[in-house]
Amino acid sequence: MKQNNGTYWAVVPAAGSGSRMRAEIPKQYLVINDRTVLEHTLARLCAHPAIAGVVIALSATDRWWPLLRRLPADKPLAVVTGGAERCHSVLNCLRYLRRTQPADHPVLVHDAARPCVRAQDIDSLLQACAAHPVGGLLGMPVRDTMKRCDSHGAILETVDRRRLWHAMTPQMFSLGLLMDALEQSLAREQLVTDEASAIEALGLRPVMVEAAADNIKITRPEDLQLAEYYLRRQETP
Ligand code: CTP
Ligand code: MG
Repeated sequence: MKQNNGTYWAVVPAAGSGSRMRAEIPKQYLVINDRTVLEHTLARLCAHPAIAGVVIALSATDRWWPLLRRLPADKPLAVVTGGAERCHSVLNCLRYLRRTQPADHPVLVHDAARPCVRAQDIDSLLQACAAHPVGGLLGMPVRDTMKRCDSHGAILETVDRRRLWHAMTPQMFSLGLLMDALEQSLAREQLVTDEASAIEALGLRPVMVEAAADNIKITRPEDLQLAEYYLRRQETP
C-alpha cells in the first residue's frame, strides 16, 4: 500500500444503537474512567502520530455528540451522518474523505466501541500493510475448541481452530478500493460486518495481523467492566 508520508486518515463508525448492550443510551456514549467510550477511542487514535485526522459517522438522531467535552483538539475531526448498518456508515465516511483525498490514500476503519486499542497494535498493522498489496486488519487467533451447530444447538462438527481468527479493527485499505468493495457488497445486498469481508468478496486476500487480546469490542453489558479494567491496566506503567 501507499506509504503516504506515514500519515493516514481514520474512519470511526459510531452511528449504532448498541441494542445488545441494552442501555438507555448508545454504548459509545456510556462513561468508563471519566470519559465516554467514543472519547477514549478518539483519544487513542489521535494520540498516534500516524493518524492525520478522523471522520466519524453519527446517527441522524444522535443527541449526545454535542455534549462531549473531552474530544481530542490537536487533529481534525469531521462528522458525517451514518446509515442503517455499519457498512453504510463507513461508506458515508469514505465518500466524505474522497472529496479531499486520492483514491490510493490508505484509511484505517476503527469501531467506536473498541476503546482499548494499543498504539503498538496500530504500529503492527501499519507495518504489515505498508508491505502488503491489499491491506489488512487486526485480529486474534481463537482459543477455544470451535463447534458448528444447527439451529437447535445440536453439534454438526468440530471446526479446526488452528487457522481461525477473531476479526477486529482497525482495518486498513485504500480509500478507492474500499469504497468500490463496499458499494459492490451493497449492490449484491450483502451487509458485510467488516471491511475485509467486502475486500475478500472481490477475490483479494487481506493480511491478518495479531493484536493484543484486550482490543475488545464493547458489545454486551459485562464488556463495559472489562474495558474499564483494560484501560486502567494499560494506563498504569
Ligand atoms: N455502527 C454504525 N452504524 C450502524 C451500526 C453500527 O456506525 N448503523 C457502528 C457502531 O456504533 C459501532 C461499530 O459500528 O461502533 C460496531 O458495531 P456494533 O458493535 O454492532 O454496534 P451496534 O450496532 O451499535 O450494536 P448492536 O449490534 O448491539 O445494536
Ligand atoms: Mg451492530
